[in-house]
Amino acid sequence: MSEKEAMIKLENIRKSYGKNEILKGVNMQVNRGDIYGLIGKNGAGKTTIFKMILGLSEKNDGTVSIEGSTNDKELMRNRSKIGFLVGTKFYNYLSARDNLKYYATVKGIADSKNEIDRVLEIVGLQDVKKPFKNFSLGMTQRLGIANAILGNPDILILDEPTNGLDPQGIADVRHMVQRFREEFGMTVIVSSHILGELEHTADRFGIVNGGVVVREITQEDLNEKQAAVEIAVDDLPRAKEVLTANNIRIVREVQEKSTLEDYYFRLVGGSKE
Ligand SMILES: Nc1ncnc2c1ncn2[C@@H]1O[C@H](COP(=O)(O)OP(=O)(O)OP(=O)(O)O)[C@@H](O)[C@H]1O
Ligand SMILES: [Mg+2]
Repeated sequence: MSEKEAMIKLENIRKSYGKNEILKGVNMQVNRGDIYGLIGKNGAGKTTIFKMILGLSEKNDGTVSIEGSTNDKELMRNRSKIGFLVGTKFYNYLSARDNLKYYATVKGIADSKNEIDRVLEIVGLQDVKKPFKNFSLGMTQRLGIANAILGNPDILILDEPTNGLDPQGIADVRHMVQRFREEFGMTVIVSSHILGELEHTADRFGIVNGGVVVREITQEDLNEKQAAVEIAVDDLPRAKEVLTANNIRIVREVQEKSTLEDYYFRLVGGSKE
C-alpha cells in the first residue's frame, strides 16, 4: 500500500443483511489530507461502507483501522474524531441553532455557543431562525454539514451531501469541502452517485461496484494515455456501427483527457447514454 499515512483503512470488510451479502470484501485506504470521493450507483454500498467505518452497524468480517487503531477501545476513541453526515436526523420544531445545541451536548462539546456560531457561519445559516421543518433541501444539507464539522474533527465523512441540490448548492458544498481541508486540515471522504460532481472536488476516488471497491484511482490516473488513433471518415455513424459490430468498443470520442465518467464506465461497464 501507500507510504502515506493511512487515516482510514478497510481490509476485507464483509457485511450481510439477512441472506444478502452487501459488502463482499471491501478494501480501501484514505490517507491524511485526502479529499476522497467514494463513487458508485444507487445501492452499491456506499452508505454501508460509511456505517462500517463509523461503527454504526456491525460488520461480519474484516478489519477497520482508524489512525492505525484496530482494537475496540482505541477505535472508539478515534471514531470520536470523525465528524459525519450519514443519515443525520434533526428535530422538526427546533431551529438550526437548537438542533446543533442538542448534538453539541451529545458530543460533549465544551463552549458550545461559540462553536455553534462558528459552524453556522461557515455553512451560511447564521441568520436563519425558522424551525427545521420549514427548511429547504439546501438548508437541510447545510445544517447536516454544520453538525458534521461541530467540534472541528480530524476526519469528515459526508454521505451524498449534494443530493437534491441545485448547481449553486453543489458548487457551495464543493467550496466548503475544499476549505475544510485547506483551512482546517481535515481529511474528507465524500460520496456521490453523480460522477461529474466529485471529479473536480476529490483528488482520490474509490469506485464501489458489486459489493467491493473495484479500484482506487488518483486524479493523475485520469490523465493516463489511452491507445488511440485519429481517423477522418465520411460517415461517422456508420464507422461507429462497424466498430461496434466487430466488438471494438468506442472508449471515447475526441477529448483531451479521460473524464471520471469515461474511467468509471470502462471499469464497471454500462454507459452514460
Ligand atoms: N438496514 C438494511 N437492511 C437490509 N438491507 C439493507 C439495509 N441497508 C442497506 N441495505 C441494502 O444494501 C445495499 C447497499 O445499500 P447502501 O445504502 O449502502 O447503498 P448506497 O451505495 O449508499 O446507495 P444510494 O446511492 O442509494 O444511497 C442495498 O441493496 C440496500 O437495499
Ligand atoms: Mg447511500
